[in-house]
Amino acid sequence: MNPYSSRLSGFYKHSLAERIAILADLTDLDSDSINALSGAAGLTTAQADHMIENVIGVHSLPLGIAANFQINGRDVLIPMALEEPSVVASASFMAKLARNSGGFVCSSTEPEMIGQLQILDVPDPAAAIAALHANTNALLQSVDHLHPSIKKRGGGARALEVREITDSPIGPFLVAHLIYDTRDAMGANAVNTAVEYLAPEIERLTGGRVHLRILSNLTDRRMSKARAVWPTSALAFGEFTGEDVRDGIIEAWAFAAADPYRAATHNKGIMNGIDPVVIATGNDWRAAEAGAHAYAARDGRYTSMSTWSKDAAGNLVGELELPMALGIVGGATKVHPVAQAALKLMQVQTANELAEIVVAVGLAQNLAALRALATEGIQRGHMTLHARQVAVAAGATGAQIEKIAAQLAAEKNVRVARAQELLASFN
Ligand code: MEV
Repeated sequence: MNPYSSRLSGFYKHSLAERIAILADLTDLDSDSINALSGAAGLTTAQADHMIENVIGVHSLPLGIAANFQINGRDVLIPMALEEPSVVASASFMAKLARNSGGFVCSSTEPEMIGQLQILDVPDPAAAIAALHANTNALLQSVDHLHPSIKKRGGGARALEVREITDSPIGPFLVAHLIYDTRDAMGANAVNTAVEYLAPEIERLTGGRVHLRILSNLTDRRMSKARAVWPTSALAFGEFTGEDVRDGIIEAWAFAAADPYRAATHNKGIMNGIDPVVIATGNDWRAAEAGAHAYAARDGRYTSMSTWSKDAAGNLVGELELPMALGIVGGATKVHPVAQAALKLMQVQTANELAEIVVAVGLAQNLAALRALATEGIQRGHMTLHARQVAVAAGATGAQIEKIAAQLAAEKNVRVARAQELLASFN
């Protein structure tokens, strides 16, 4: 695995074939991985047929490369699978602006998942809690070796925590949380197997009835954090000074911090960066979404996932910390050729490293949206990018693309028919 530079200047101006050649040249990816990323050899229907039921085919999404990211001092090219224009470009641009101040500094907790057991009909809750505490070691030991591959990587059962829910529609009951370190696996299967295994013994110890046995997607013991600093000078553009942009971004963030209507949209912008990497790596994006939004409401009021402030020197500082339960082994990550190639491209060694990359892209994407919203609005940038796609759809190639796109955007008439007229007038 050779390090590479993620600084791809003008990547978008190349043809698709050229971009793939650049990627192959830059990285030491084998031809199978390159073919998987380029779409020449993605997920087959035969592979898909083993993944879900009633398979009739496979569904595709555009796969783009976010450039310029530097994460904990390492350059990384980030594959993103999504249908929405402007996300890949703007995340790459924000990553470029962060490079001069050291890129993204990321960290993670241990990859500990939570498995829940709902214990109903407990005759004596205090005695049941005491019995579970007294037998915690034996309970943990009984499930610690259930997953040899996780154990081999240093994971295993870590703790058992018990809570009493005093107020629910069916009255009070107990909840036990099994804390299980699943290392590089997302761990849903491992945790679900472990809680199901524990249920009979927990019933015996508590005298109650174990009802649900399932992991929690609020994985707040498995957190990843990204922080980056953007020098004020890097934020200036057009008629906007760096200070104006910085202050406008902080004001925009304050809106999301205070108002759930805005927070939902603000956080959607963050997930615009997160989901595409989660999807490209074959991970469960519904789990990532559920955990992130639940965490954003952890204080009883839904709020911004990120924070924006200025440091003593006046630089813009962005921080994003989220539950991020991702895997790099097992599940679709293992079967899907694009997921395998995506992980190789990013050269990630651990699930935590992947989670940190994902959170960094979320932060970059959040900044991209806030910067646009706090200045010219998002439509202008979208229009320029959309105009490029329309120009290509009309048959423009090479230098014609930018020329026609600029004209369409200037006329605020981004339609294929108009692009075709312009193209004909150039020829
Ligand atoms: C659009 O997909 C995402 C934004 O609405 C995010 C935001 O408003 O912060 C632009």
